[in-house]
Amino acid sequence: MAVQKVGVVAGGLMGAGIAQTCAQAGYETVVREVNQQLLDKGMARIYGAWETMASKGKLNQRQVDEYRARLHGTLDMAEFADCDVVIEAVIENMEEKLRLFPALDGILKPEALILSNTSSLSVTQMGAVTKRPDKICGLHFFNPAPVMKLVEIVQTISTSQATIDTVRQFALSLGKTPVLAKDTAGFIVNFLLIPYLLAAIRMLENGMASKEDIDTAMKLGCGYPMGPFTLLDYVGLDTTMWAAEAIYEEYKDPLYAPPPLLRRMVISGMYGRKSGRGFYEY
Ligand code: 3HC
Repeated sequence: MAVQKVGVVAGGLMGAGIAQTCAQAGYETVVREVNQQLLDKGMARIYGAWETMASKGKLNQRQVDEYRARLHGTLDMAEFADCDVVIEAVIENMEEKLRLFPALDGILKPEALILSNTSSLSVTQMGAVTKRPDKICGLHFFNPAPVMKLVEIVQTISTSQATIDTVRQFALSLGKTPVLAKDTAGFIVNFLLIPYLLAAIRMLENGMASKEDIDTAMKLGCGYPMGPFTLLDYVGLDTTMWAAEAIYEEYKDPLYAPPPLLRRMVISGMYGRKSGRGFYEY
């Protein structure tokens, strides 16, 4: 199937980055939010990224105008009716996803694919509440979505090979390098990344070193672009906790149990960069 039009559900940090990526790659892109305020915020995030790229000379005005013309915001999910692919990037909450998937299934044309950007929830469960489980898989982007080269394609036991082939081509057309993962909690990256981030929080809880020194150690000692606390703030402490809980739920491995400090920070609204305060202040 040739993908021409892409729908993105939600314009938060990941949804906006995904919509930006799709519009830049030449796809007619429609992003849907639940209210005008959130939609305006998501669109402003994307326009702002293009302005920054233009100011650095990475885009010219004609390209910015083309991208803007291809991107369309809406509050109405019915606008997904003629999309070939819809990518959902709503909150990491299974109840929310289980409401969304049947709704999308009822609106989309029969051949359209529904992809989830979930970082660790079961894509199999999302597919099971639709009449097209063969056309459902994960397409997990990394923050910042327009910059990070990787996507994880997540295959459930019901996803057809034709769907995987189409999604692989689609990912390549976005300029991404796809890897294929089975639908097990955490897929590849978060299965490895989450224990590392949680271990850093436990080190801080135990007073083994300061957060600044832990960050410096991993940046300069291992060549990571960001230390674990800077990355936690960047990804979002809430997102990290949900991912940890989902993997813990599946394996009951204490490596994935959210440390008390993480839980308390999330309860207090310290989500990281997006809320102005996490391990650092912004
Ligand atoms: N659109 C377009 N370009 C963007 C952008 C956006 N939204 N955001 C950043 N960029 C560009 C910048 O313009 C810059 O381009 P330039 O080098 O050509 O000027 C480039 O990206 C690098 O950005 P900066 O110069 O601002 O900063 P850095 O060089 O420090 O790089 C970073 C920033 C790419 C975020 C780098 O620090 C990094 O790779 N950090 C690690 C990020 C990471 O690990 N992400 C994965 C998290 S895990 C995850 O997402 C999974 C989830 O499920 C938990």
